[in-house]
Amino acid sequence: MTVHFIGAGPGAADLLTLRGRDLIASCPVCLYAGSLVPEGVLAHCPPGARIVNTAPLSLDEIMAEIAAAHAEGKDVARLHSGDLSIWSAMGEQLRRLRALGIPVTVTPGVPSFSAAAAALETELTLPGLAQSVVLTRTPGRASAMPEGEKLAAFAATGAVLAIHLSIHLLDKVVAELTPHYGGDCPVAIVWRASWPDQRIVRATLATLDAIVAAEMERTALILVGRTLGTADFDESRLYAAEYDRRYRPVGAEPRFPEAS
Ligand SMILES: C[S@@+](CC[C@H](N)C(=O)[O-])C[C@H]1O[C@@H](n2cnc3c(N)ncnc32)[C@H](O)[C@@H]1O
Repeated sequence: MTVHFIGAGPGAADLLTLRGRDLIASCPVCLYAGSLVPEGVLAHCPPGARIVNTAPLSLDEIMAEIAAAHAEGKDVARLHSGDLSIWSAMGEQLRRLRALGIPVTVTPGVPSFSAAAAALETELTLPGLAQSVVLTRTPGRASAMPEGEKLAAFAATGAVLAIHLSIHLLDKVVAELTPHYGGDCPVAIVWRASWPDQRIVRATLATLDAIVAAEMERTALILVGRTLGTADFDESRLYAAEYDRRYRPVGAEPRFPEAS
């Protein structure tokens, strides 16, 4: 018996990996984390599967579901939205499962920041403007922020910020970031990226209409940075005609001969 943690993606049912789909189809028990996992993903569960929404359950109750499946020798598909490596609460489940000696696998999913960037049809890292993306959040009721992880500290680097779980604090976010990025810095808010009702608001830190954004409630990502929506950046050297690289050597003698 194995618990398969599967990143269910940002919303669109077809933004699920083939591995994730096949694992879901092979598991007689599916535990999924609330409304962010779309029904289209649950449709891969086999007929007769036990399908449980864990949003109203405590960690102990989730572990009890897994223990019951374990006692019956039934594999479990454990679905969390987006990717499992960020804000999935997988860590505490892994710790308990390891203590119990229950085997696990982990299958990644498409994170919401990728889906939001795709919705914006943008590359977040552009030469000369930003080469780092910080995935962060503001403190919440369930999670305080470690001392050094202040928005202002990240902002001081000029990196692109992908701010999760914070749309309800938009005013505060804008106030904290404006001194660092300037009021003309582009902002994009993507609400329910990849869902059929996806919405996008583009503005600058100075022009952002907090009221419009506030209507978006939860499940929105705030992206801030100079790379958003600009055509004013350098081309990367990667595809420059004179750039010598392994797969397109310049001159007769390749600089990176294939290993024999
Ligand atoms: C608990 S975190 C889960 C993050 C998830 N593990 C991931 O990989 O993106 C939930 C937050 O992620 C963001 N989020 C998740 N799905 C989203 C989507 N489809 N569109 C925009 N933001 C989303 C929102 O900021 C939301 O408050």
